[in-house]
Amino acid sequence: MSLLIRGARLRRLDGFYDILIEDGRIVELSTSIKRSADEKIDAGGRLLTPSFTDMHFHLDSALTLGDPRYNESGTLIEGIEIWAEKKRGITVDDVKKRAIKAVKMMVSYGTTRLRTHADITEPKLSTLKGLLEVKKEMKDIIDMQITAFPQDGILTERGNVELLEKAVEMGADNVGIIPHYELTREDGVKSISVAFDIAQKYGKDVDGHVDETDDEQSRFLEVVAAEAIKRGYERRVTAGHATAMHSYNDAYAYKLYRILRRAGVTIIANPLINIHLQGRFDTYPKRRGMTRIKELLKHGVNVALGHDCIRDPWYPLGRGDMMQALFMAVHVGHLMGYQELKDSLDLITINAAKALRIEHEYGVETGKRADLVLLDARDELEALALQRPPLLVIKNGRIVVRRSGSEAELVIGGRKEKLDYV
Ligand code: FE2
Repeated sequence: MSLLIRGARLRRLDGFYDILIEDGRIVELSTSIKRSADEKIDAGGRLLTPSFTDMHFHLDSALTLGDPRYNESGTLIEGIEIWAEKKRGITVDDVKKRAIKAVKMMVSYGTTRLRTHADITEPKLSTLKGLLEVKKEMKDIIDMQITAFPQDGILTERGNVELLEKAVEMGADNVGIIPHYELTREDGVKSISVAFDIAQKYGKDVDGHVDETDDEQSRFLEVVAAEAIKRGYERRVTAGHATAMHSYNDAYAYKLYRILRRAGVTIIANPLINIHLQGRFDTYPKRRGMTRIKELLKHGVNVALGHDCIRDPWYPLGRGDMMQALFMAVHVGHLMGYQELKDSLDLITINAAKALRIEHEYGVETGKRADLVLLDARDELEALALQRPPLLVIKNGRIVVRRSGSEAELVIGGRKEKLDYV
């Protein structure tokens, strides 16, 4: 199966380009390709980019909004309490049904690579079992990694360390942490060490929730970075949220940038959810509670984005669209200069590929894997301003989503499906 896309704009290049795709790879890219193909698409001068990556998402809780109740305080803690009630009776089937729907929504908006968390403090591990099946069943349309996520803490309950290790043995790809939610500062530090031990034992990466609080004294990120350095785990660690950094003094933040850069830690900002959850204990002025995307980038620290949640106890809105997450990020992070807006698309594309260490096969270049998205816009600014859903999503050289007007058609396992809810 070959596919020829004609007349596309590409990021950071002038003019229009033709792209020929064969057997899942880009085999030719030039201003005029003479060869033909099984299918031809006229891009009409629209922007073709690598498809998006969502580096931090909770598929197991997706689309549970209102079940068993709504989060009226808008705090992280009430969200965790509601989720604790929900997960008591959770089944593999329930997780699968919602996760599959959420994945299809994400793919329809251009995401074909996803890191999801599975809460492994649910003792039957139904969340993990469900997501392992979803990973397999959805592999035609999305590359999924599952992080074993100790939502209720690693050292808060007897048996959670064993659950974390068991989850990795069952097939989880990464080891999670949540040090700011452990009972004490000392437990938080110890939990990081426990997670790194498991990660090293099984050769897994560490993918944490770190310092997701407005408490300026929550300083686990430095511990995570130090562990990465001491254990030779450079470039194998991601830290999600890191919102306490918003409240650190600048001298401490400066120290932190340096060790994060040295450790090769990628910070995953989750702007949709953190602009909603943070600052909830403030009166006025209310802190934004976002990690320092602009300054981290300036100091050479890699930053990528996560959507985090769709319609669950922590975030009541969302459609799985990384362009919405980016829209929020550029506003909250003061990334609204012309060049900043142009570059901001890196946060949901190449920076995520760096975090996953797949740059060698990622991008719109000859020889790279054809995971692409044709946006209904001429450039990054128009894409952000208009927020139009993509016209085409291509995974492994095959068109998996075609959109016209408000209708999207998804192709999965050779079957066509109308996505009328996106
Ligand atoms: Fe999260």
